[in-house]
Amino acid sequence: MDDRFDFLVIGSGAAGLTFALKAASFGTVVIVTKKEPVESNTNYAQGGIAVVLGDTDSFEKHIEDTIHAGAGLCDPNVVRVIIQDGPARIEALERLGAKFSKSDENTFLLGREGGHQENRIVYAADATGKEVERSLLERVRTHKNILILEHHFALELITEHHLVEQQTRAGRTTHCFGAYVLDDHAARVKKILAKVTLLAAGGAGQVYQHTTNPVVATGDGIAMAYRAKARLENLEFVQFHPTTLYHEDSSAFLISEAVRGEGAILTDLDGRRFMDDYDERGEMASRDIVARAIDEQLKISGNTHALLDVSHHNKDFLQTRFPTIFSTCLSVGIDISKDPIPVVPAAHYMCGGVKTDLNGQSSIERLLACGEVACTGLHGANRLASNSLLEALVVGHRAVQHALEIRRNSNWREDIPDWDESGTENPQEWVLVSHNREELRRVMWDYVGIVRSELRLDRAFRRTRLLYEETEDFFKKSRVSAPLCELRNMIAVAYLIIRSSQSRKESRGLHYMSDYPELRQEETTPTLL
Ligand code: FAD
Ligand code: SIN
Repeated sequence: MDDRFDFLVIGSGAAGLTFALKAASFGTVVIVTKKEPVESNTNYAQGGIAVVLGDTDSFEKHIEDTIHAGAGLCDPNVVRVIIQDGPARIEALERLGAKFSKSDENTFLLGREGGHQENRIVYAADATGKEVERSLLERVRTHKNILILEHHFALELITEHHLVEQQTRAGRTTHCFGAYVLDDHAARVKKILAKVTLLAAGGAGQVYQHTTNPVVATGDGIAMAYRAKARLENLEFVQFHPTTLYHEDSSAFLISEAVRGEGAILTDLDGRRFMDDYDERGEMASRDIVARAIDEQLKISGNTHALLDVSHHNKDFLQTRFPTIFSTCLSVGIDISKDPIPVVPAAHYMCGGVKTDLNGQSSIERLLACGEVACTGLHGANRLASNSLLEALVVGHRAVQHALEIRRNSNWREDIPDWDESGTENPQEWVLVSHNREELRRVMWDYVGIVRSELRLDRAFRRTRLLYEETEDFFKKSRVSAPLCELRNMIAVAYLIIRSSQSRKESRGLHYMSDYPELRQEETTPTLL
């Protein structure tokens, strides 16, 4: 195969792999992924996939819960279509060999998470994402029409901007012709041309100092789409997970919401249960409410963490239901069948992203996006737990049909220039990259976190602008590298989060502004960028 494909997929999580596997029945597919293929948010998903399979459940109930969590910004049609396709996607994963937790009678064991009125989370113990990733990747690796390029970092989407002649004439982006991709091991930039490009580069949790996301989640997809002038939406809605392990030897290891679904209670360090003060659903309130409650409790008490107690269950049950959580906690000296777990919130999920329709179509022709990088309108102002794997699977699947139509009417562009490295060199001052990265993450954590204010956002904006100027200057002179590009992308995403937050002068869903604590009824349009 050369560097021309029918379908270019950027990212090897649930969204990218689902699309790739189906698209490969119709044409050639290349997947570029910046580390090893399993490295993705998908691989760390614990709780599961929200799907209507229970006897007392219904699509209507799941739709109601999703729209309620989304605080006025969900698109009801999108919600309905995605939820109704859930059972078929689980069936498809099982056909690929995914093994979900089941009863002795071979029915799905269904977990419960915050904001859901029914048990509807399909899970594989507490490592659901790993099982999804494994089953998809096994098939993808052996498919003759799919080439996986690992340690390949997508730098830029190729659009009219890269064509000198077009640029001077119109200066407008209307089509995507592929991507410039850095082969990290060979230190060489490749030009990969495609009839259809799918952006499935996941989330941006690394923009924050404390996050559940692995190091690959630096918002590259959002930043690339922004530079290509794609329409973006709702980037102020960053979801903070209420419960990650607070321990010096663990970097924000997630304690799944499913633990609360099994009856765990949240207390302060004196053992006082506090969630009932905030919501009648107590620990099972939606994530925004629980994260804000913990944040407030910590601010009032000055404590560093809260406690999550699941010790009403015995060891056997906990080891079977939550093997990863049990062993990880034990490795740092916490036996969860006896001891409460110290927990703090951390950045977890980006609800906004590249605006797409239900087929993944973005505002740029031949560019599709799906999964966490995208914003379909499913989540609105606050994602309901375990709805994101569902969305990645459903839209990843649906997008293929649409991609086939695009392919029918498209061809490769012959006039794309090579990556231009002129005027750059290998700089000595790499320390600038790591320091700026850490500074950015701290600024975002301190000023653009669970509770925001005009003052904090202004402060974050000024600091981010300085980091932007320094980094752009460095970028122009330097030979391209993955760490530098990640930093640039993280700064772009931070800027977008701050700008979107500044423009929403109310509190809604995940976006809480202490200057504007009320929800304004008229503000029910998404934030466009
Ligand atoms: P990802 O799975 O993140 O994949 C993105 C891919 O893009 C990765 O392979 C990455 O390396 C690659 N990539 C990124 N940038 C580049 C680049 N520049 N060049 C090349 N490749 C690139 N959701 C649920 O529904 N249920 C859960 O139980 C759940 N638990 C979670 C637990 C944790 C700890 C985390 C972090 C998330 C959880 N989520 C859960 C959220 C969910 O896992 C993600 O939203 C979802 O998996 C995203 O899938 P994706 O395919 O869009 O992106
Ligand atoms: C969890 O297991 O708590 C994560 C679920 C999710 O992010 O949807």
